[in-house]
Amino acid sequence: MLFSEMKALSDEDRDLPIRWSVMHIYTSSQIAKILALKRGIDPELAGITAALHDIGVVKTKKRENHAEAAKRYVYEIIETYNSTHRGSLP
Ligand SMILES: [Fe+2]
Repeated sequence: MLFSEMKALSDEDRDLPIRWSVMHIYTSSQIAKILALKRGIDPELAGITAALHDIGVVKTKKRENHAEAAKRYVYEIIETYNSTHRGSLP
């Protein structure tokens, strides 16, 4: 879902190239899933959490205050995810 949306984004005015963010989301999510499996916690939730941890950079194009800016985007993405894919992510 994130990748299909990010494919349409350009590098214009970004602090980091969108390609960097795509790779960072993917690798962070994979590492989180491996750690979750080793620690006996939900790998899907860990993977989604890691995938969204820098969504503020993607949406605002800036690194400054990206954590604070991310909140509204995380809620929007979870709502979309729940309504179109799974329906129960808190
Ligand atoms: Fe990060």
